[in-house]
Amino acid sequence: MRTEANQRSGMLANPIFTAWRAIDGERWGHEPMLLRHRLHEHPLFSNEALARLVENYPREHYNLVQWGEHGSTGSWREGEIVGLSGDAIISAIARGRVWINMRNLPLVDPGYGALMNGIFDELEDYMPEFRTFTRKLGLLISSPMSRTLYHADLPGQSLWQIRGVKRVYVYPNKAPFQTPEMIERIALSGVEVNMAFEDWYDNHAKVFEIGPGDMLHWPLNTPHRVDNLDCLNVSMTMEYFTEDIRRTHMVTVANGILRSKLGVTPRRHSISGPGFWSKAVLQRALRDTRWVRRENRARRRPEFRLDPEAPGGVVDIAAA
Ligand SMILES: [Fe+2]
Repeated sequence: MRTEANQRSGMLANPIFTAWRAIDGERWGHEPMLLRHRLHEHPLFSNEALARLVENYPREHYNLVQWGEHGSTGSWREGEIVGLSGDAIISAIARGRVWINMRNLPLVDPGYGALMNGIFDELEDYMPEFRTFTRKLGLLISSPMSRTLYHADLPGQSLWQIRGVKRVYVYPNKAPFQTPEMIERIALSGVEVNMAFEDWYDNHAKVFEIGPGDMLHWPLNTPHRVDNLDCLNVSMTMEYFTEDIRRTHMVTVANGILRSKLGVTPRRHSISGPGFWSKAVLQRALRDTRWVRRENRARRRPEFRLDPEAPGGVVDIAAA
């Protein structure tokens, strides 16, 4: 049977989005939205494929992080994986308080690159104006009860649930939850997770409980936080830029420099016209200076190793 999505796109026999409606194209980027997908049943995300992927993931492309009692960033520490099978890694994560973020999936395995391009082809088919570049895909395997603290991201984002259940809080995309100053600070520092959070913000959040086959997308720079339920989670993150997002980012960097370095309060945020172009020149001239700290994800010294036999699934390197 042809779905509405198939009829609309004409060509897609086996779409990744299993219930896309024309109205979803109208909503995309304007409000938080939940879509259905079939990646949790895709061969690239079978238990065997996930085990093989994590077993061989290159050291320079993953971060393994152990989180503290209350999920505060101050108690995070970085670890590494040495000589474990994929199954042993996943069972250690299932028993521990860690997450592994496997960045740059398409670079590590071209099969995921083809999948990513297929997803964007499908979205561009549904939304003819939607054109993307600097696409990225990552895979996150995280322990039961892992948390991602309140933050906002600079690229376009979506979160795809493969295994387990997460509760995602999506907050209003306006003050006091998010302000231009906060986004400028992220753009200049490269650090997403030190946005101020108040408990009462939750009263204003849209809360989504997402399981396998759910995908969440929200408007650019929307603040959000994520709590795993008490189960192992596997999730895919997808990032992209469009021409509008690229220009927004350039204006954000320029406004951040004007505000924090030159003491000028920027009043305009337009992404076209002479105001935009002068900011494009400003941020271009200054973005390699110390005013714009380049994204700093350099490897920290690993403090622990994953170990499925150890209590909590990790062993300190000093004691190893
Ligand atoms: Fe995020």
